Amino acid sequence: MCINTGKMLSALNIVFLLFCESALSERVLCAFTDEKCLTESCERAFKNFINSKSGVDSSDPMQLDSMTIDLPKIKYGAQNNTFLGMSNCHVVLTRISTERSKFMYNISCPSLSMKLDYDMKDQLGSKNVDEKGNCVVSFDDYLLRFVGDYSQYNGIDNKIHLTIKSYKFTPDNKARVHYECKKQSSGDKQNSTDWRDTHQQAAKHLLQSFMAKYMNKVNHFLESKSSDEIFYQK
Ligand SMILES: *[C@@H]1O[C@H](CO)[C@@H](O)[C@H](O)[C@H]1NC(C)=O
Ligand SMILES: *[C@@H]1O[C@H](CO)[C@@H](O)[C@H](O)[C@H]1NC(C)=O
Ligand SMILES: *[C@@H]1O[C@H](CO)[C@@H](O)[C@H](O)[C@H]1NC(C)=O
Repeated sequence: MCINTGKMLSALNIVFLLFCESALSERVLCAFTDEKCLTESCERAFKNFINSKSGVDSSDPMQLDSMTIDLPKIKYGAQNNTFLGMSNCHVVLTRISTERSKFMYNISCPSLSMKLDYDMKDQLGSKNVDEKGNCVVSFDDYLLRFVGDYSQYNGIDNKIHLTIKSYKFTPDNKARVHYECKKQSSGDKQNSTDWRDTHQQAAKHLLQSFMAKYMNKVNHFLESKSSDEIFYQK
């Protein structure tokens, strides 16, 4: 667009050329091997993206529709699912391997929490387990880690866009995760190992679902911005 192939440059075209050149000189694009540049530019993009300043729905809070999680012995219903705290996170690593079309993306979060209303029933239908309640799960200093495959394509703006084709999310096993689950109208206090395990397993599933939603938002963002609008040095 900045290239003028006409033989006669009008004054307007000269102004246009100058404008384009100065705009380009402000933005130095990241080399895809430059991990520091990629990480810093993703952190910059993240701040706008997470608060929906970039046109993609905010990721803080995130909501998920009711779902049923099939655990080995128990049917676990999770409703009113909310995930809070993404806006305090930082992108600490973005790495891209262009030859293999792989990426690595880590986000460090000082404080996340997940809230839900639950009901659980024994899978075999016995009356041993049949209860409702709510949980608050708190994650302190949690590192969200994603690795996966991406591809690139020419967008309708005729620029290169990236898209995440597949990913694997790895939970942070070193972080402190605190569960506070309360049975509704609880007469007897539930706190058996099994009962706590059930909530922990369900929470793991739910976290995966929230991360799927997050990655979906990341892809919406990547669709809306060309790679040169994201990966540049300031
Ligand atoms: C979800 O939250 C709303 C509002 O707080 C509440 O009225 C409703 O009962 C909740 N749903 C479940 C299944 O607990
Ligand atoms: C990013 O996550 C990977 C695992 O996917 C880990 O090996 C690496 O140490 C992490 N790096 C940072 C800076 O968080
Ligand atoms: C449940 O049991 C665990 C370990 O036995 C204990 O640390 C925790 O405080 C108990 N929670 C409640 C709500 O009683």
